[in-house]
Amino acid sequence: MQNTEQRPVLTTERLVLRRPQASDIPAIVDIVGDLRVSRYLARIPHPYGEVDGRFFIDEIVPHELVWALTLRTSGQLVGSAGLSPTDQNEVAELGYYLAPTQWGLGFATEATRAIVDYGFKVAGLTSITAGYFAGNPASGRVLAKLGFVETGRTERPCLATGRIEPSVEMRLDRV
Ligand SMILES: CC(C)(COP(=O)(O)OP(=O)(O)OC[C@H]1O[C@@H](n2cnc3c(N)ncnc32)[C@H](O)[C@@H]1OP(=O)(O)O)[C@@H](O)C(=O)NCCC(=O)NCCS
Repeated sequence: MQNTEQRPVLTTERLVLRRPQASDIPAIVDIVGDLRVSRYLARIPHPYGEVDGRFFIDEIVPHELVWALTLRTSGQLVGSAGLSPTDQNEVAELGYYLAPTQWGLGFATEATRAIVDYGFKVAGLTSITAGYFAGNPASGRVLAKLGFVETGRTERPCLATGRIEPSVEMRLDRV
């Protein structure tokens, strides 16, 4: 993937996707500190606090193509999404979350569609992978709407719950 410092602002119909910054930490802590969100994410501890938010801004954001999802109308941060590197240079893994108050409005699909487009057309990716916990059909639906197809089933650890959960592995290839 290209240098993540280059990531542009992406604008969709209702969202502005921009680089996460230190002033976002309280909003991020509020969202991913909620177990309804973190139980479906692999890498988020629970409880999640200020120190974790600082680690995300200082150690993750500079190295991964991750965006803050904000509402075009108000600037409110409603979630985050991005592409993490894999062991293959032209393949990245898609991840995303939305605040529970914003679920069911199509925001995850809208944001990830823009990111997938960026990944293929600008970042030079040939494939994007994603994995969702089997108990999270809403995430599976987001990926299906983007055209991802199932490539297999595995188990992944969930840091927040401390459990190893069944996971559905998905993939989308550049056309
Ligand atoms: C998964 C998540 C990102 C979805 O965000 P969202 O903005 O509500 O998603 P969208 O509105 O774009 O699409 C959700 C789709 O799932 C469907 N859906 C919701 N709950 C569902 C359920 N229990 N079973 C099946 N489908 C479901 C919706 O109807 C919608 O599909 P549709 O457009 O065909 O009607 C959000 O619930 C979230 O942040 N969850 C916690 C973190 C997480 O799971 N991240 C992904 C990790 S892989």
